[in-house]
Amino acid sequence: MNSIISSKSLNLSGEIKVPGDKSISHRALIIGSTVNGKIRIRNLLESEDVLATANALKKLDVKINKISNDEWEVFGNGIGCLEGSNSLLDMGNSGTGARLLMGLVAGSDVEATFTGDQSLSTRPMERITTPLIKTGAKVNCNNNSTLPINIKGSKVPLPILYHSPIASAQVKSSILLAGLSSLGKTTIIEPFLSRDHTERLLKYLGAEVITTQLENSSWEIILNGMPQLKPLNINVPSDPSSAAFPIVASIITPNSNVLVKNVCINELRIGLYKTLIEMGANISFSNQREVDGEFVADINAKSSELSGIIVPKSRAPSMIDEYPILAIAAIKAKGDTIMEGIEELRYKETDRIKAMDDGLSSMGIKTKSTKDSLTVHGKGKTSLISGGIEIDSRLDHRIAMSFLCLGLITEKPVIVNDTDTINSSFPIFFDQMNKIGAKLKYLKN
Ligand code: S3P
Repeated sequence: MNSIISSKSLNLSGEIKVPGDKSISHRALIIGSTVNGKIRIRNLLESEDVLATANALKKLDVKINKISNDEWEVFGNGIGCLEGSNSLLDMGNSGTGARLLMGLVAGSDVEATFTGDQSLSTRPMERITTPLIKTGAKVNCNNNSTLPINIKGSKVPLPILYHSPIASAQVKSSILLAGLSSLGKTTIIEPFLSRDHTERLLKYLGAEVITTQLENSSWEIILNGMPQLKPLNINVPSDPSSAAFPIVASIITPNSNVLVKNVCINELRIGLYKTLIEMGANISFSNQREVDGEFVADINAKSSELSGIIVPKSRAPSMIDEYPILAIAAIKAKGDTIMEGIEELRYKETDRIKAMDDGLSSMGIKTKSTKDSLTVHGKGKTSLISGGIEIDSRLDHRIAMSFLCLGLITEKPVIVNDTDTINSSFPIFFDQMNKIGAKLKYLKN
């Protein structure tokens, strides 16, 4: 159990390397396994979450190799062609890996049992099993619908029409992956548009996916089953959810100026950046371009003066993983930052509303939380924040990294315990943050 101590820092500056996007990395491996032939993936995120997905696919008879420092190859067996007899798939900490792979297994003539770590084993899976059962998959699990879950897929799943009660890219993607091997159109309707990396990657490889906003303002996504997917190479852009940590650190730390290159700026992922700009943050995007179906840019952030705002519910899907670090930025804002419609945060790696509320309250920051909102009473740019607290990561990488960023601006250091969880999404966080001037140190056990 490693602990990191984060101490007051000034002048964060320079260029920081942020690894490949986690969502796109999972999808590159999973969708790559369904093409006929070999694809190469560059800048794949080599984190515990993504490696768990790669290992699970290998157990399902997909050949995956790392071929150089920056390149992986996947030998796709074609749609619906997973193999193996009741493989045990340990998905570690990863909700995305577990839920997406359950969809792929549901659309294959194969059986597998999914397990995960302590955090993943408490997360809700009914959101996935309900639609997958409709496609014809046989699902075996406990009454709470938590892992371990056994799924027996069907060779020709039914093309379903599913109204998702929540805007979740994991739910949408799981259904689309099952629908790949259906003989017909799979349709999902979601209340707000969630991240669309699955749709983009499928389209890039040649599938027909149509997204339309309906009259009641919900969104309909239709996939035509059994597409001919081309074995094209995939360049994974850097992860905006990981970039969020050095960017916010640079905004709240005096005299800072940090650049993150090659970041995915998909419209459905940049809610945090829009919010920070509305709050007055000095953030700019340059070198915007399209790479393999995704939009990418370099992002620069400088120390800024922030004001609190109301972050509307409609923005939640585009920044769902960024609320913990927004709560840290909100401490330095003038006035209240009110985050609405965020109940989904209660079902992440930990209950993130509670984790932030508890952690901030423990150092005297005024907060208010309801079932689906969090308010942080900002203290303003020049305020002094005491710090001097110890935080448990609760097996949640984003909680750990958020409080380590907070320690950079507190009077006394902040200690975060059980920080190995950071390896699930940003294994180079410690080195890269120190490279730009952050004072992070491992504590000896
Ligand atoms: C993800 C979707 C999000 C996000 C998660 C990654 C994905 O979950 O929290 O970290 O890659 O599809 P939901 O869309 O289920 O909220």
